[in-house]
Amino acid sequence: MYPSVNVSGCCEVGSCVEFGTGMQILQGLSVVDNAIVGASACVVRNIEEAGVYVGAPAKRIK
Ligand SMILES: CC(C)(COP(=O)(O)OP(=O)(O)OC[C@H]1O[C@@H](n2cnc3c(N)ncnc32)[C@H](O)[C@@H]1OP(=O)(O)O)[C@@H](O)C(=O)NCCC(=O)NCCS
Repeated sequence: MYPSVNVSGCCEVGSCVEFGTGMQILQGLSVVDNAIVGASACVVRNIEEAGVYVGAPAKRIK
């Protein structure tokens, strides 16, 4: 987790996950292993597939 990340309550985060500067994740969501969430993203749905996610709401780009 890089600076200014906001992880809301009751989230479940897998292994080898990277959270970019200033990203946020809403409460109760889960993130699978090997996901990368870019700087300033906002995760509003479970991340169920490994990959790179950016934007608000966060979408998978690769
Ligand atoms: C998301 C991230 C991992 C993607 O890196 P990458 O795989 O090298 O991807 P690229 O730089 O090739 O970018 C791919 C596309 O995503 C876009 N993109 C990259 N990061 C983005 C972000 N944070 N938000 C929105 N769009 C982003 C790029 O503009 C590019 O778009 P395009 O294809 O339309 O040109 C990286 O940009 C990132 O945000 N890393 C976090 C860095 C950080 O927080 N560092 C703090 C250190 S203390």
